[in-house]
Amino acid sequence: MLSQLPNCITSPSWWQLIKWIADPIGFQQKYSQKYGDIFSMRLSGIGSCVILSHPQAIQEIFSQDSKFDIGRGNKLAEPLIGRNSLMLIDGARHRRERKLLMPPFHGERLQAYGQQICLITEQIASQWQIDQPFVARSAMQKVSLEVILQIVFGLSEGERYQLILPLLTSWLDMTDSPLRSSMLFFRFLQQDWGKWTPWGQMKSRQNYIYQLLLAEIEEKRTKEDQRQGDVLSLMMAARDENGQAMTDDELKDELLTILFAGHETTATTLAWAFYQIHRNPDVLLKLQQELDSLGENPNPMEIVQLPYLTAVCLETLRMYPVLPGLFPRITKSSINIAGYQFPPDTTLMPSIYLLHYREDLYPNPQQFNPERFLGRQYSPWEFIPFGGGSRRCLGYALALLEMKLVLATVLSNYQLALVENKPLKLQRRGFTLAPEGGVRMMIKKRITQIVRT
Ligand code: HEM
Repeated sequence: MLSQLPNCITSPSWWQLIKWIADPIGFQQKYSQKYGDIFSMRLSGIGSCVILSHPQAIQEIFSQDSKFDIGRGNKLAEPLIGRNSLMLIDGARHRRERKLLMPPFHGERLQAYGQQICLITEQIASQWQIDQPFVARSAMQKVSLEVILQIVFGLSEGERYQLILPLLTSWLDMTDSPLRSSMLFFRFLQQDWGKWTPWGQMKSRQNYIYQLLLAEIEEKRTKEDQRQGDVLSLMMAARDENGQAMTDDELKDELLTILFAGHETTATTLAWAFYQIHRNPDVLLKLQQELDSLGENPNPMEIVQLPYLTAVCLETLRMYPVLPGLFPRITKSSINIAGYQFPPDTTLMPSIYLLHYREDLYPNPQQFNPERFLGRQYSPWEFIPFGGGSRRCLGYALALLEMKLVLATVLSNYQLALVENKPLKLQRRGFTLAPEGGVRMMIKKRITQIVRT
């Protein structure tokens, strides 16, 4: 099969897998310099995959979405998020589940979360001490986890909340480096020999999270008064066109998927935003001037309309993709993409990084330049931080809302600085990419006295 694929990398497949795990960005840069917009890799034990980075090819893929199996391409994530996860299913089942999950994350519902996000941010930031270094990625993870727990579960206190908070963080921290991420890619490392093996520990934490999720579902079901505007209540109340509700197994896997996909991603992007804003004093100044123009206590919905703040978020998402590539798309039948005829069962993966660093789309791509988003509107196949087609990120609107409100809340109330002003690299963290070292920062000054509720 590989011989039929374009521009095949010739090194041994085990070597390609190691490179893909250890340095997925360096790997992609190297072969795009050699082969251009399309090349094929072969990962030992996983299979072949064609990487594409031309906007036209990406448009062709998004517009023929129904000709691919995408859930099947995410098989590697099954041990983490369960086989009923939205990310792992295809076809009619995927369409049904997405329809049930969409409303709580969009439109009017979303607006209701604004105030909550600002409050959570203020509460967490108020614990930072002046001149004491903190890791921005971890701090942002606390914020985004609280946001997800409060918005998705309606949880903000109680024993279950106290348990799930550190448990989820320690579960995800188990793959916080390229080496520790290896167990997600090598089946032979996925041996559950109790708590003494990394996989055993991972599974035991996951089982505990599952128990807590099922207990939460059960409690919501029995206590009517606990059903409020949170996402879990809405998911439990949702019915498909046949009047069918989601089963407990489906609910549990979707909850874990949302926790898994929805908080680390936003936290990592926020850490990068703080990093770039504080490396570029002119960006910080422009942001502060824009925020000041709203006066005291602006409405969250006014904040999210700010053009420069929006451009800063988009530029951060351009430079720092949280995934090395979009979800793999597996062809269901023979298909023509980018002038190549691909047979059934070929895996195609659009590269976010390579697309977002194209000189012809983003001149001087290594430079953090929010203005590029003020001067130009990019099409859905030129700018893909949240993917596209039928798989476009379910939480993209929440992620953007959260990014803008967290940045605005922190920058309006604190003067921050980077502990070290050195270039940071993207480093693998499980299936995602994060800043090496997490971005160390400290507070220099409180700008206003925050009124806490
Ligand atoms: C900055 C933050 C985020 C980024 C950069 C991001 C990025 C992505 C990307 C690239 C995809 C794959 C799309 C594709 O292959 O076409 C995706 C899918 C997904 N994301 Fe996000 N995401 C973010 C935040 C969130 C949040 C906050 C949630 C949940 C509340 C979420 C839930 C999901 C889900 C459930 C999917 C799978 C969708 C499907 O299979 O239909 N994400 N995300």
